[in-house]
Amino acid sequence: MDPRTPAPPASSPSRAYLDHASTAPLRPEAIAALRDLLDLAGQLGDPGRLHVEGRTARDLLEQARSQVAAWLGVGSRQVVFTSSATEAIHSAVHGAITRAPGRPILLAPVEHSAVQRASARAAPTVALPVDRRGRVAPEAVAEALERAGADGEQPAAALVHCQLVNHEIGTLQPVAEVAQVCRRAGVLLHVDAAAAAGHLPVAFEELGADLLSVSGHKLGGPPGIGCLVLRRGLRLPPLLLGGDQERARRAGLENLLGAVGLGAAVAALGDRRAQQDEATRQRTLVATLQAAALAVPGVQVLGEPDPDQRAPHLLCLGLEGVEAEPVLLALDQAGVACHSGSSCASEALAPSPVLAAIGVDADRSLRLSVGWSTTQDEVAAFTRAFGPALARLRALRAALADPDGPGPGR
Ligand SMILES: Cc1ncc(COP(=O)(O)O)c(C=O)c1O
Repeated sequence: MDPRTPAPPASSPSRAYLDHASTAPLRPEAIAALRDLLDLAGQLGDPGRLHVEGRTARDLLEQARSQVAAWLGVGSRQVVFTSSATEAIHSAVHGAITRAPGRPILLAPVEHSAVQRASARAAPTVALPVDRRGRVAPEAVAEALERAGADGEQPAAALVHCQLVNHEIGTLQPVAEVAQVCRRAGVLLHVDAAAAAGHLPVAFEELGADLLSVSGHKLGGPPGIGCLVLRRGLRLPPLLLGGDQERARRAGLENLLGAVGLGAAVAALGDRRAQQDEATRQRTLVATLQAAALAVPGVQVLGEPDPDQRAPHLLCLGLEGVEAEPVLLALDQAGVACHSGSSCASEALAPSPVLAAIGVDADRSLRLSVGWSTTQDEVAAFTRAFGPALARLRALRAALADPDGPGPGR
């Protein structure tokens, strides 16, 4: 096979990969771009040098930056490559708090742990309330900013965070409205778009944000790359100091492989129309998953029940009478990969703070997420496996609880 031929979809035909929200399979276009780049490896140098090898690498890096910029509708200079969304978030927090030392950071408890922990380390934080769907109200942001500014210091806060899409329940946040509130208060707004990118068009200018973070591996690019997007003209003190890479905004030799892979992945998303079509396709797949899941007794949607108010690719389910871990293992055995907000189901020590914030039991939750590679066959595999797996586990539980049944030791 010609190594430049895009590879077939990454998921194995016997597996259903319904965990795109954790990480997406590498897109064939990204694989092809990475292969092409590896072929050139001996001819590439430091993009900051004037020799041919350096200039060749620089051209490829800037082409990748233009692809990312075109996708987000910004100028290339607004894009700073980072190692991940986590690093982009830390950079945003560091930059904001260095500009306004001692001022608080406002964020909701449904933000990703990278946002929570980067903020808590840097500044006093103020928790923005969310409703049972995990949504922040712009009025609540305005009130919190007013309270934060009551000491007369300016700005009222160093930063407000508002994610575009929640990574566990898919709730869409009213980012554009929150941006208006922040602009009126003269406070920077950072938008974590890691869970949205690749599933919904992300138009930076329309959101009205000052800062936006993206993760490469969530949308079919390689891991180890992300970016921070800055409002035109906004300059923040860099998190990583050293060389003058990324216009002195992020020190360290650029990750050319990562950038080129990310550029190819976002170029493959196509124009806004194509992205909307893909969102519709993902929404349809999730509607089938939802119908199949709700046909099983004791299963409900957690978070935002209205699919139109949710990201197209995500569905979080509450499962009565069974814990997440055995369900995940049973589904995995049946060839279906998915995730749960339960701490047993992940590396986390505590169950999902997102689910705790909306008052639901993370230990009985299941998250399904689709993406660019998901097929109807994969959805059908879930549909076949889910009901019987749940029924088996519930029967087992009932038998173990029944003193006359075949309990342990019998
Ligand atoms: C909403 C959100 N923000 C940030 C991150 C961190 O992304 P990365 O793995 O690129 O650091 C994730 C990944 O789980 C996420 O879902």
